[in-house]
Amino acid sequence: MEFKKRILCIGAGYVGGPTMSVIALKCPEYRVDVVDINPDRIKQWNSDTLPIFEPGLDEIVKKIRGKNLFFTTEIEAGIKAADIIFVSVNTPTKTYGEGAGMASDLQYWEKTALQIIKHAQNNKIIVEKSTLPVRTAEAMERILKASNRNIKFEVVSNPEFLAEGTAIKDLLEPDRILIGSHTDAAGTKAAQAIVDIYAHWIPRKKIITTNLWSSELSKLVANAFLAQRISSINSISALCEKTDANITEIAYAVGSDSRVGSKFLNASVGFGGSCFKKDILNLVYIAQSYGLHEVADYWNMVVQMNQYQQSRFVRKIIREMFNTVADKKIAIFGFAFKANTGDTRESPAIFITQKLLEEQAVISITDPKALGNARIDLAGLDNINYETDPYQAAEGAHAIAIVTEWEEYRHLDYQKIYSSMKKPAFIFDGRNILNHCQLFEIGFNVYPVGQPDLNHFK
Ligand code: UDX
Ligand code: UDX
Repeated sequence: MEFKKRILCIGAGYVGGPTMSVIALKCPEYRVDVVDINPDRIKQWNSDTLPIFEPGLDEIVKKIRGKNLFFTTEIEAGIKAADIIFVSVNTPTKTYGEGAGMASDLQYWEKTALQIIKHAQNNKIIVEKSTLPVRTAEAMERILKASNRNIKFEVVSNPEFLAEGTAIKDLLEPDRILIGSHTDAAGTKAAQAIVDIYAHWIPRKKIITTNLWSSELSKLVANAFLAQRISSINSISALCEKTDANITEIAYAVGSDSRVGSKFLNASVGFGGSCFKKDILNLVYIAQSYGLHEVADYWNMVVQMNQYQQSRFVRKIIREMFNTVADKKIAIFGFAFKANTGDTRESPAIFITQKLLEEQAVISITDPKALGNARIDLAGLDNINYETDPYQAAEGAHAIAIVTEWEEYRHLDYQKIYSSMKKPAFIFDGRNILNHCQLFEIGFNVYPVGQPDLNHFK
C-alpha cells in the first residue's frame, strides 16, 4: 500500500509506544514506524506481551500492528524514509558534572540528532516529544544545521501530557494538544503538518499552537503546577494530623471553589513517577542558571515537601509501632507509583521500603503489576518477600502500609486479613482509600494521611 506520509518515532517507551499506536490508529493513510536502540524492547512490542501495561493499548496494537504500525530496530532505514521524525528518547536527570541531580541529561537527544543528520537524505520535520529544557530546540537546530548537507530540518515541539494508567484515554480525548514552532513561514508550515496529524480525531480548537519556547516551557510548567497542588495538600495534611481537621473534608471544601477545582487534591504518601520531580528540578535549574534564585527556591520547595511527606509517613509508622519496627513484618500494599501501571520510577514505595529495612523491619511487598520492577529497584536488599497475593503478604504481619491506590485494595476481606495478622494490628493508609471506621471496628489501629487516627490504645 502507498502511504501518504511516513512518520518515524525514535524511542519506544511509555510515551513513544502508546502515542504512535494512537496516531497510527487514527491516521490509516500514514505509515508509522517506531524504532528503539533496545532490541529486547522492540521484540516485546512485536510479541503478545507488550513492554508496558496500559488499559486499551493491547487492543489497538493488535489491530494495526503490521498494517500501518511497525516496531523495528532499523533506525537508519527509518530515518531515510520518514517525512516526520518524533523523538521520544528518555531525558533523565543528569547524574554527573554540571547540573548533576537537576539538569536534564540530553546525551540521548544529541546522539539521536547526530544519527538523523548522518542518515537523512531529504528535508524533515523533527518533533520534540521528550520533555526538554526550554531552548533545547535551538541547540538541536545548531547540531542539525552543522551538517552542511543542504538538508533542512525544521524543529517542532509537541510535548506529551498523557498520564500513565490512562494513556490511551488521554491520547484519544486530550484536554489539549500543544504544538510549538518558529513563527516564520517554514516553521508555520511544519507546525501545520503536525496539526494535520492530530486533526484526524481532535477538534481544531483543542490544538494550541505557540512559539517554540512557550511550548517547551509549558510542559515543565504544567507538571510543576500539578505537582505543586499535591505538595500543597500534603503540606496541609501534616497540619491536619496535629489539629484533628480532616484533609479529605478540606480538599472537598477548597476544591469546590471552581477557581481552585477538585482534581489533584488527594493527600498521599507523596507523588512519584518519572516526570514530576525531574521536570521541576529542571525548571529549578533553568531558573538558577538565569540568576532567578527566588523562582528556583519557590519551585524547589515543591520537591522538598514531597520528600518530607514520604519521610513523615515512615516516621509515623515507626512512632506508632512503639518506636521500633525491628524484626516486625510490615506488608507494603502497592509498589507502583500510582494505580493501573507497573511503573515504579520514583515511586514513594522505594524510599519507604528502604527506610523500613534500615530500621530492620521484615518487608513483604504485594502489587498486581509492579513486582517485577520492585525486584529490580530493591535488588541486593535482604529481608524482603514478594507476594502476588495480598492475603499472603499480610499473613503474620504486624502492619500494613497502603502505598498505591489500587482499586482492589478497597475490596479485600479485611476481617480475614486481621485474623491472620499479629496483634495489635496496624494499618497505615497512605492513600486514604480504605473504610477506616470499619477497619477500626474489626480491631485494626488505623492511621490515615491528614485525618485523625483511630486506635484502641486511648
Ligand atoms: C518520555 C520522554 O522521553 C521523557 O523526556 C518524558 O519526560 C517522559 O516520557 P519515556 O517514554 O517514559 O520518556 O521513557 P522510556 O520509557 O525510558 O523510553 C525511552 C526509550 O527510548 C527507551 O525504550 C530507550 O531504549 C529509547 N532510546 C533511548 C533510544 O531508542 N535511543 C536512545 O539513544 C536512547
Ligand atoms: C504526569 C502528568 O499528569 C502528565 O500530564 C505528564 O505527561 C506526565 O506526568 P503521571 O506521572 O503518569 O503523569 O501520573 P499522575 O497521574 O500525574 O500522578 C503523578 C503522581 O502524583 C502519582 O504518584 C500519583 O499517585 C500522585 N498523585 C496524583 C497524588 O499523590 N495525589 C493526587 O491528587 C494526584
